[in-house]
Amino acid sequence: MSEETLSNLLHENRRFEPPADLAAAANVKADAYAAAEADPEGFWAQAAERLTWDQKWDRVLDWDNPPFAKWFVGGRINAAYNCVDRHVEAGRGDRVAIHWVGEPLEDARDLTYAELKDEVCKAANALTELGVRTGDRVAIYMPMIPEAVIAMLACARIGAPHTVVFGGFSAEALASRIEDCEAKVVVTSDGGYRRGAPSPLKPAVDEARAISAKSGHAVEKVLVVRRTGQDVDWDDAVDVWWHDTVDTASAEHTPEAFDAEHPLFVMYTSGTTGKPKGILHTTGGYLVGTSWTHYEVFDLKPETDVYWCSADIGWITGHSYIVYGPLANGATEVLYEGTPDFPERGRWWDIIEQHKVTIFYTAPTAIRSFMKQGREIPDSKDLSSLRLLGSVGEPINPEAYIWYREVIGGGRTPVVDTWWQTETGMILISPLPGVTAGKPGSAMKPLPGVGAEVVNDEGVPVPNGHGGYLVLTQPWPAMLRTIWGDDQRYVDTYWARFKDQGYYFAGDGAKKDEDGDLWLLGRVDDVMNVSGHRLSTTEIESALVSHPYVAESAVVGATDPDTGQAVVAYVILREEATKTLGEDGGEGIAKVLSDHVRKEIGPIAKPRQIMIVPELPKTRSGKIMRRLLRDVAEHREVGDVTTLADSTIMDLISAGQARSTDD
Ligand code: WTA
Repeated sequence: MSEETLSNLLHENRRFEPPADLAAAANVKADAYAAAEADPEGFWAQAAERLTWDQKWDRVLDWDNPPFAKWFVGGRINAAYNCVDRHVEAGRGDRVAIHWVGEPLEDARDLTYAELKDEVCKAANALTELGVRTGDRVAIYMPMIPEAVIAMLACARIGAPHTVVFGGFSAEALASRIEDCEAKVVVTSDGGYRRGAPSPLKPAVDEARAISAKSGHAVEKVLVVRRTGQDVDWDDAVDVWWHDTVDTASAEHTPEAFDAEHPLFVMYTSGTTGKPKGILHTTGGYLVGTSWTHYEVFDLKPETDVYWCSADIGWITGHSYIVYGPLANGATEVLYEGTPDFPERGRWWDIIEQHKVTIFYTAPTAIRSFMKQGREIPDSKDLSSLRLLGSVGEPINPEAYIWYREVIGGGRTPVVDTWWQTETGMILISPLPGVTAGKPGSAMKPLPGVGAEVVNDEGVPVPNGHGGYLVLTQPWPAMLRTIWGDDQRYVDTYWARFKDQGYYFAGDGAKKDEDGDLWLLGRVDDVMNVSGHRLSTTEIESALVSHPYVAESAVVGATDPDTGQAVVAYVILREEATKTLGEDGGEGIAKVLSDHVRKEIGPIAKPRQIMIVPELPKTRSGKIMRRLLRDVAEHREVGDVTTLADSTIMDLISAGQARSTDD
């Protein structure tokens, strides 16, 4: 990676020290790094001691047959017991586990740990009654309602691995996941609320069941929560209501202890091929990794904090940092069903104000969309309860970081930029809020006990000030164990690229700054090569977003006869900017913005074209689909748009006018 390409983020020299009171009372202090380095297995064993085991492990880590790891070998544990029962047994049954907030303003429900335990036990009994046995897979396709959490924990309680499929996925996507892991039972609801209206889910399950039946896999039962009351088709042989089976089941259920390596869940994620990969996580190591990092990175004080992670339960963030991590720690948390802008744009801030949320965890894409709306909305709410903010999912550009810290956090709150993946199960790279002086845009250092490096093509660590590939150099407790049913694909995808070194290849580019701190640069497949210089899409996007006119941007490398690839930028303007410049930014906009990029990074990064667009094509999880933008930039027919949250966006973008930035 050339020196110029690294320059942009390196002249970011703002630093935010941890607040003194937070640092003094922090759960994890600076000595943890040295302790973990001196004895990594001892360090993870201590983290494991925070959980309740039916039988203690004989060996912390078995790495005799890499890359197939076993953690806490010989240990036996029940994940649901750790997330609910043990808090009740310790006399904390009256503590609220979940403040559930439905999208309709009048819908709300608090569940204490004692109530959650009863619900999980009933659901475990009901699933057993429906024929689910230890090892059987259960698919969960639900909105963000308490029953989704209850269903996951009930599966964990009886040792039936769950596969949660995001409620925004189509029937086809659901069917392919059901078939791949041969789910016996599906848990769903009639629908959920989205933007003020009931949005159906059951019809997609009916359709998925029909699709799977054609390819020879029969779903035996579908357990349906009544959420919206909308009409549903009913098959008496298969469909059962939650209120008829779960609500009437016994609240007595003795949890069985499972082997630490018993499968806990399969989470599907997209790879470079069309076929989603079923990422397998197992019980002991995953629970240790998620509960420990939730305690460490969010500095959780379960007696006083109110925690809110805005992710959907259908993604890994929902699994690790809504369900398993926080509940194993006895946290009080918010669970919100709906969209950020219903019934009006300030809904999230109202929830924070109402529940006095102290720790808030969200994604940069959300932060940037709030920036676009302007600060008046959050400024009109009382957000003074917040003491810590987190970010996940993509690199957070310095402007979004500063806005998040200043406008949402009132300038008081540390921001933890947390890097991890579906595969890693737990946060691996992040500041420690009571220890690390934060740099806007940097995820800083691997957590204590975690080994991460930035290496070149040959797998050699790059010196400070240089970029390369992010690798993980040692196993960690919540690591994926394999790809469901495909050990070879597991080896090939993650462990083949740096086989000689035995590194896990994360697929991300990163750089080390002069202090050796880490800056994530996005997926390496988003790295461009312009005239032999490697440029990160993220770096140019960050430069564009640092201009006061720009709300959001996406950059792609388009094939260019002269330079190999050329930079093409798609830009959404801020509302205030369009008021003065007009919807399309006016004649001079392309030159203004490209000069800005030239100034921020250097002439090499200057976009060839800039398109002002009303929206960017995003998947339902908020990831920008650069592939589609590349199609437009290269004047191709736009490819498959079925995974877009809004498939009409590409028509608007294709109809737009590309402006050359040539002087
Ligand atoms: C990206 C989400 C920069 C990265 C938990 C990774 C990030 C992919 C960050 C995993 C971050 C996640 N900074 N990039 N803090 N967090 N990513 O599997 O490219 O949905 O490989 O897991 O998101 O996405 P996934």
